[in-house]
Amino acid sequence: MASPALICDTEQWKALQAHVGAIQKTHLRDLMTDAGRCKAMTAEFEGIFLDYSRQQGTVETMDKLFKLAEAAKLKEKIEKMFKGEKINTTENRSVLHVALRAPRDAVINSDGVNVVPEVWSVKDKIKHFSETFRSGSWVGATGKALTNVVSVGIGGSFLGPLFVHTALQTDPEAAESAKGRQLRFLANVDPVDVARSIKDLDPETTLVVVVSKTFTTAETMLNARTLKEWIVSSLGPQAVSKHMIAVSTNLKLVKEFGIDPNNAFAFWDWVGGRYSVCSAVGVLPLSLQYGFPIVQKFLEGASSIDNHFHTSSFEKNIPVLLGLLSVWNVSFLGYPARAILPYSQALEKLAPHIQQLSMESNGKGVSIDGVRLPFEAGEIDFGEPGTNGQHSFYQLIHQGRVIPCDFIGVIKSQQPVYLKGETVSNHDELMSNFFAQPDALAYGKTPEQLHSEKVPENLIPHKTFQGNRPSLSFLLSSLSAYEIGQLLAIYEHRIAVQGFIWGINSFDQWGVELGKSLASQVRKQLHASRMEKKPVEGFNPSSAGLLARFLAVEPS
Ligand code: F6P
Repeated sequence: MASPALICDTEQWKALQAHVGAIQKTHLRDLMTDAGRCKAMTAEFEGIFLDYSRQQGTVETMDKLFKLAEAAKLKEKIEKMFKGEKINTTENRSVLHVALRAPRDAVINSDGVNVVPEVWSVKDKIKHFSETFRSGSWVGATGKALTNVVSVGIGGSFLGPLFVHTALQTDPEAAESAKGRQLRFLANVDPVDVARSIKDLDPETTLVVVVSKTFTTAETMLNARTLKEWIVSSLGPQAVSKHMIAVSTNLKLVKEFGIDPNNAFAFWDWVGGRYSVCSAVGVLPLSLQYGFPIVQKFLEGASSIDNHFHTSSFEKNIPVLLGLLSVWNVSFLGYPARAILPYSQALEKLAPHIQQLSMESNGKGVSIDGVRLPFEAGEIDFGEPGTNGQHSFYQLIHQGRVIPCDFIGVIKSQQPVYLKGETVSNHDELMSNFFAQPDALAYGKTPEQLHSEKVPENLIPHKTFQGNRPSLSFLLSSLSAYEIGQLLAIYEHRIAVQGFIWGINSFDQWGVELGKSLASQVRKQLHASRMEKKPVEGFNPSSAGLLARFLAVEPS
């Protein structure tokens, strides 16, 4: 018998559907009394501890999910990814971000060629360039050393590096290494973002890194031209070679833009944009700011998870466990969103990065074979660091919609503070919330408890918490470059696992194209209207009305 085209047609999927009723009859309040279950629903790798006992499921649920993984051929799909097979079939590409952080002696092939030596040759070039830059030997057009870097890029050429930069900024070792330097990002084509990115910077001491996989992205290219003009108008055209460098897979376009090819850092089409932070996309700007050795630790952290993901049994495999649980929550329990809640301000840009990683990867409506999915894939990711989120959207998570939460806590703070006279340190205060929130969600508060507390009758419904709201908790030993790399790779692989189970292509992004092409039609008409006073045409009445209002005001 031919294997079913869609995962939802398998017995294993149906067995999970049949299991939902039994789980819905349970309450986390009761499930959490079972010490054996709580212990079983944990996993550990190096300094990372995962407790998923507050998921709405049991050991039986996990068994069924492992069987689903077998039915989806998860092991084989992971293997194909690591072997460089062209699993991104719609773009005919391998998916090899793992090669970006593999050790120098690893062998990972794409099209029969070991890509690891090329990866290391770019890393060696970055190491050399960043050392020259940081030592002050690389001087700008007026002979001054450069201390400021503006990285221009959007989407995957921005969010991952921003996440890592924000997390490293407060790590004492990284901060020491970055003393006297600035790294900024320019992503939005909004002129406000341009103004912010160069506010108080002097072109004389600034290096612009243009980061774009394709070197065609409209926003990035306009921003790059704008900053080129900023440099040229102040320092002259010859300054570009000293003040602008690039990261791209398209070195031909880099040259045409006017950037010296010697100052271009390559990556490859087998690196997806949103999976590219471990390529020169992230490694270059981060090395300029923090030095290559710190960035190498970040890469080693990511590589440790690659190895764990590739070799551990599913029962102990953190990304696999997480991916399966997300499939359970989305496809069986029907929870469409996931909140990412790091109890660490250093991780404030984790959720924005995961939004792209997850939603651009798994926001798909058809299977990898092009069959329309009869179930919803992907999930809505959002988040904020705790405790800020608690004073923002947690109300909805506690008493409104059910949203599975990822709580991420760190045992050793990057910046310990203990204020004399306080009962606990600032970090203990933060972590008190990290430990309390998952139980508040799981247990809730019953009307009986409220009665016993003599809460007035009219307030009982308002103060009742139904509980039974799933979450999982990560406890990291510390948050240095290594653990930041680990966290990144855990999410990357988790998202891939979800896609592998759903049977979709997590590595293409056709859904972003339509808006881009419509914008290009609008752009042409805005130009024609402003320059040649031509009327805008071909739009529906709504767009025509909006454009008319916009064009009625002359740009300042
Ligand atoms: O938004 C679509 C997208 O193609 C992303 O996948 C990518 O990360 C981003 O645009 C930027 O692309 P590029 O690096 O080619 O400028």
